[in-house]
Amino acid sequence: MKIYSKHELNNYSLSLTYDDISLIPTEISREKTRLEVTIKSSFLGKKLTVPVVSSPMDTVTGIAMAKELSNSGCIGIVNRFDSSLSELFSNGNVIEGIQAVSVSLTAEDQLLEKIATNNLIVCIDTANANNAHVLNKCEEIKKKYKVKVIVGNIAHGGTLKQLVDAGADAVRIGIGGGSVCTTSVQTGIGIGQVSSVLDTYFAREEQKLMIELIADGGIKSPGDVVKALASGADIVMLGRMLAGTKETPGEVIKYSDQLWKKYRGSASFGVKMKGEFIEGEETMVPYKGAVKSVINAISDGLKSAMSYLNCESLEELKKINTFGVLSTSSYLERLPRK
Ligand code: IMP
Repeated sequence: MKIYSKHELNNYSLSLTYDDISLIPTEISREKTRLEVTIKSSFLGKKLTVPVVSSPMDTVTGIAMAKELSNSGCIGIVNRFDSSLSELFSNGNVIEGIQAVSVSLTAEDQLLEKIATNNLIVCIDTANANNAHVLNKCEEIKKKYKVKVIVGNIAHGGTLKQLVDAGADAVRIGIGGGSVCTTSVQTGIGIGQVSSVLDTYFAREEQKLMIELIADGGIKSPGDVVKALASGADIVMLGRMLAGTKETPGEVIKYSDQLWKKYRGSASFGVKMKGEFIEGEETMVPYKGAVKSVINAISDGLKSAMSYLNCESLEELKKINTFGVLSTSSYLERLPRK
C-alpha cells in the first residue's frame, strides 16, 4: 500500500473526503499518555483550548452557544438570522464571552462600528467568497475598522491571494460538503472536503500568504476533526456535530419517544425568503444535552490521535505526511459492527 505525503495526497487523481483517507502511525510515539500532548492553539489572535468554531447557522449559534463555547476554549460565531445580534448589543456593551459575529453582505456601518468597538471577529457569511461584492465588502470593512474578517466559502485555493489582497484574515473552506447542503446537487459545484483543504493549504504555503484556514462542513466525528487538521486546516467549523445540543437556539421536541432539535441549512426554505434559491435542507437531529460533552469528545479524540502519531502539538499534527487512501471495504472495516 502506498503511504501518501500531504503533497502527494493533494495531487491524487480523484477528489477525496474524510471517509476516503486515514492517518497512519509510522513512528514510535514519545508520549507516555495522551495527557502529555497539547492541543492549545490560537485563531485570529484568540487563544483556544480546542480548535473548534461553530457555524453561524440559526439552529447552531445563538448567544448561549457562543458563550458556552467561549467558556470551553472554542469560538462561537453568532448567527445573523434570528434576534441574537440585536440582543447582543441591546445593553450598549456586548455580552461577555462573545468573540464573533456573522454579518450579511449588506451589513451597515452602525452594526460594524459596534462590532469593531467590542473587538469582535466579523464573519461575512456568504456561500461564495469568490465574488467581487464579497471582496469589496471585506476591503471596505478592513479599511474602516480594526477588526479581523472571515470570508467564505471556497472549494479550492486558486483565488486565495485575491482574498488575502482584499484583507481577509481567515477563510471558510468547503462548498457542497455540509450535511444539510444541497449546493452540489443543485449546481454541480464542489469537491471533497479533504481535497479542498489540501489545495487551499498548499496555495497558502506556496505563495507564503497570511490567512487562517477553516475546514467547514462535512465533519461528522472527532476522527474527521483530526483528518481536517492533519490536511492543513487551522481550525474546524462545525454545524451538525453541535446541532441538537442544549445550547443551540430552538425548542427540544419529543417525537416517537425520543427528544429532537431542529437543524437546518442557512439557505433552506425556512431561512430564505420567498422566491430565493434553496440550497439547503431542514431536518431533526437527536437531542444531545450539553455541548461541553461534544467538545470533550473532540478534545479526547484529538489528543489520542496525536499520541498515536507521535505529535506533541497541533503544529506537529499539521506536518503529518503519512496518509492512506481507503478502499470502500477497508473504510467499512473501520466502522464498529453491531
Ligand atoms: P455540517 O457541519 O456538515 O453540518 O456543515 C455546516 C456547514 O454547512 C456550514 O458551516 C456552512 O458552510 C454549510 N451550510 C450551512 N447551511 C447551508 C445551506 O443551506 N446550503 C449549503 N451549505 C450550507
